[in-house]
Amino acid sequence: MRIGILGSGLMGGKLGTIFAQAGHEVVFSYSRSQKKLEKLAGDAGGTALAGSPREAANNADALLLAVHWSRVDDVLKQAGNISGKVLITCSLPMNAEDSELIIGHSSSGAEELAKKARGASVVSAFGSVPSEVLFPVFEARGAGTSPHLLYCGDDDEAKEVAAGLIGEVGFDPTDVGLLSSARYIEPFTMLIAKLAYEGDGGPELAYRFERFSS
Ligand SMILES: NC(=O)c1ccc[n+]([C@@H]2O[C@H](COP(=O)([O-])OP(=O)(O)OC[C@H]3O[C@@H](n4cnc5c(N)ncnc54)[C@H](OP(=O)(O)O)[C@@H]3O)[C@@H](O)[C@H]2O)c1
Repeated sequence: MRIGILGSGLMGGKLGTIFAQAGHEVVFSYSRSQKKLEKLAGDAGGTALAGSPREAANNADALLLAVHWSRVDDVLKQAGNISGKVLITCSLPMNAEDSELIIGHSSSGAEELAKKARGASVVSAFGSVPSEVLFPVFEARGAGTSPHLLYCGDDDEAKEVAAGLIGEVGFDPTDVGLLSSARYIEPFTMLIAKLAYEGDGGPELAYRFERFSS
């Protein structure tokens, strides 16, 4: 598939690299540094490219949204018309300090995103994983049990695309239903982040917790 990365920081940079290594044609976009995008593309190897959000969206089979919540409108504007595309989001609706969710209870970031990106098929995935564990999970894929990764969305075909990518990273894709399930996943993710970054165990502990195992 051709996968456009909208936001090439910790999450977009790592997931884009993994998707490229899994054989997809990846376009890294949206950074303040064109050099950084080019280095990401060069290091990822294969056919990976650096481009603008519009170039990343052009002919993309799937898009990964991985920007801070405050940048969502800007990156979507730069991407242009993404109607009909699969839009996988790991972007959480956080405040500027990244300390609190600013949407919850009666909606979620994923649902609000679906209203902004009219016509795109939004799937919420990868938001519950600390970026630090993405490479280790990819490296360990196929060896033993795969950790679960929750995803949700309203469009079955888009969810199939997302589930395939989740599997390629090395997770066991766990469908938790409609996009509105993000109302539960997003607050759960806060707990994961608290364990990962404020607890003593680090991302690895949080990640083990996320597997619902010991
Ligand atoms: N990090 C995690 O472990 C994690 C886990 C789960 C979910 N999330 C969620 O995933 C999303 C992305 O997180 P992240 O940690 O990957 O963020 P990040 O490392 O800060 O990456 C954000 C990307 O947006 C770009 N950007 C920011 N402001 C910009 C601007 N004015 N113009 C152009 N590009 C700009 C950054 O560019 P630069 O390259 O110039 O910095 C970077 O490429 C967030 O919504 C977060 O809540 C993160």
